[in-house]
Amino acid sequence: MYNYVDLDKINLEQPAPAQEPERQYYFMAKVRELVKKQADELGRPLKVYNLVVGCQMNAKDSEKLLGILREVGYEETESEDGADLVIYNTCTVRENANQKVYGRLGYLNSLKRTNPHMMIALCGCMMQEANVVETIKKSYRFVDIVFGTHNIFKLAEILYQRMTTKKMVIDIWDGTTAIVEDLPAERKYSFKSGVNIMFGCNNFCSYCIVPHVRGRERSRNPEDIIHEIEGLVADGVVEVMLLGQNVNSYGKTLEHPISFAELLRRVEAIEGLQRIRFMTSHPKDLSDELIEVMKQSKKICRHLHLPLQSGSTRILKEMNRKYTKEQYLELAGKIRKEIPDISITTDIIVGFPGETEEDFLETMDVVEKVRYDSAFTFIYSKRTGTPAASMENQVPANLVKDRFDRLLKQVQRISTEMSSKDTGKVMDALVEGVDEKNKELLTGRLSNNVMVHFPGDPSLIGTIVPVKLEQSKGFYYIGTKVE
Ligand code: SAH
Ligand code: SF4
Ligand code: F3S
Repeated sequence: MYNYVDLDKINLEQPAPAQEPERQYYFMAKVRELVKKQADELGRPLKVYNLVVGCQMNAKDSEKLLGILREVGYEETESEDGADLVIYNTCTVRENANQKVYGRLGYLNSLKRTNPHMMIALCGCMMQEANVVETIKKSYRFVDIVFGTHNIFKLAEILYQRMTTKKMVIDIWDGTTAIVEDLPAERKYSFKSGVNIMFGCNNFCSYCIVPHVRGRERSRNPEDIIHEIEGLVADGVVEVMLLGQNVNSYGKTLEHPISFAELLRRVEAIEGLQRIRFMTSHPKDLSDELIEVMKQSKKICRHLHLPLQSGSTRILKEMNRKYTKEQYLELAGKIRKEIPDISITTDIIVGFPGETEEDFLETMDVVEKVRYDSAFTFIYSKRTGTPAASMENQVPANLVKDRFDRLLKQVQRISTEMSSKDTGKVMDALVEGVDEKNKELLTGRLSNNVMVHFPGDPSLIGTIVPVKLEQSKGFYYIGTKVE
């Protein structure tokens, strides 16, 4: 957890400390001086615009970046236009995300012509790819800073380098075992927060680029995690989301190994914390101990995201997922039996190389049998450097599109049926905000991750209230607060 450090007390006459996080505090103090100078010249505070795409990991990283930038004097703004610093935190899990970044860079170039002192920084998973960095170096010379996923804690130092040398700074690390604790973070919500419990991934699913850009799996020490959550709770947080690419293998590589289930027990014991979520569970590592802990828990939410990817055992093998269709079905069945009110959601890829109509029908069969509360469906995207990219039997686009449409229809039909099953019940909702479409209504999240909209006063935001689910609207409810 961030312990407030008084930047005024840092002696800037001395050379930078070698140790982290002290080194970063030193550079924060240095950059703060430069930012203040520029702000005085302009007669207004400097503004940063941060665009974040991708998963919860990236969202959490952006909170860390914005935490550092707030310390050095930047104010956040909602668009690139008029920003003094633009940061794109990128995702590269599918190809189309990359194309969007290049598209937006063209727009940024035009903005920079009218505002030459604007700085452009690119970070996130896409920057961990050597070919991307080469392209930027060659064709996007107006970019000021490029950094990766392993050194986001170093933002102040990187900024300082750019501001003092005026040259493009490229700082990409291949990997690191270091986990730097105790840096500031800006929180998007006052009442809920993501908490990293591990970084990287060791699973190497054959289609997936994440292990290549996020590096090997590293778990944080349980004490650091508990300490961070205690701090968050003291600060008003009632719900945490424990984040990792495969939370079920948490703790295995620690000096004193502990299981994810054990970590959950310790998190549950934190007084004042009301809800615990986690993302993502790999089916191959989901233990009976975890099911038991979830079942007994008063705080762990009734929601499990259990990515299927494919229902065909043959394709699962090609994907290197390490479970069969039957094992997945058995696991899902066991979870539904032990925790009947749980909602199960999933990720599915359509059109993995070599997928036949029969393989696809196996996926449809699992969807029908598990009856997902909701599912994210993706068209397979070829990621250079992954084993699947060089498989020969890539599936023609028209076939994939047809399968994708059929899957989506089935997923939507089932999820509509599933998400109306609690109509008439009273359930607790964490009030997250005012409904965007109808300002008279509040938006709350149920334990099973389904949303409910109901009339109420905005002062309830951040609290958990009982709501009667009056009417199902397909994937959300309209309700009334129970007094
Ligand atoms: N670690 C998580 C997933 C992270 S990526 C897990 O294993 O569950 C989120 C989702 O993106 C994956 O579950 C997968 O469905 C999808 N995905 C990953 N690589 C992809 C690719 N090359 N093409 C299409 N979808 C992909
Ligand atoms: Fe990618 Fe598989 Fe790791 Fe998830 S578990 S991040 S899909 S390699
Ligand atoms: Fe994307 Fe990186 Fe997450 S590739 S899905 S932002 S780990």
